[in-house]
Amino acid sequence: MPHSPVPLRLGVNIDHVATIRNARGGAHPDPVKAALMAVKAGADGITAHLREDRRHIRDEDIATLMAALTVPLNLEMAATQEMLGIALRHRPHAACIVPEKREERTTEGGLDAAGQIETLRPIVGALSEAGVRVSLFIEPDAAQIEAAIRLNAPVVEFHTGRYAHVSGAERAEELRRISDAAALAAKNGIEPHAGHGLTFDNVGPIAAIPQVAELNIGHFLIGEAIFAGLEGSIREMRRQMDLVR
Ligand code: PXP
Repeated sequence: MPHSPVPLRLGVNIDHVATIRNARGGAHPDPVKAALMAVKAGADGITAHLREDRRHIRDEDIATLMAALTVPLNLEMAATQEMLGIALRHRPHAACIVPEKREERTTEGGLDAAGQIETLRPIVGALSEAGVRVSLFIEPDAAQIEAAIRLNAPVVEFHTGRYAHVSGAERAEELRRISDAAALAAKNGIEPHAGHGLTFDNVGPIAAIPQVAELNIGHFLIGEAIFAGLEGSIREMRRQMDLVR
């Protein structure tokens, strides 16, 4: 079996449990119950994105998650004063800064950290001072890693959306970019994570990148739960990840 010195954590993103709940405006299915079940099935952490429009996770979900979880909560957030205030109030284990456009269906593309260093600096600084581990959701690109270094971000998460959506030689090239970026980040003392669009079919090569310490996976796991149950879908993802480490 291949062996990497870095253990690979699985962060389960529960946003789309809340999407289903919100479709009928009630309390079912409860994303916090799903988070606890995810932990039982092998999730090392829970990820939730509080969007400006609250289309899935809501403020009260963050409060309940903070109270209920015994594993780290990774709060995905836009770099806004509103979200900074919320993060400082709850002080989750980690905050992943993501780009956010109101009209997008999901987080399309990474954060342009290189183009917004001065906007990001006080936000990264305030979170770090509060003991929140900051991650920047970026493209696997040297200029973005350079920006993360300048911002003293301890973690970057590479956007795997492009990798997930292309095939053949294009996918091989994107995998190489992610792999090179993970090595560059690790060489500079930054912990590389990865996520977006990962499934049973495409997770293996990303999980096999030896420096990658965490994968954050949501939509596929919640969708697959329809067929395999939430625990079944998470256990199988964990198994696929472990196969290549
Ligand atoms: N990581 C980040 C930073 C994200 O914004 C998302 C999507 O919310 C994910 C991981 C998970 O992506 P997916 O739902 O496609 O698995």
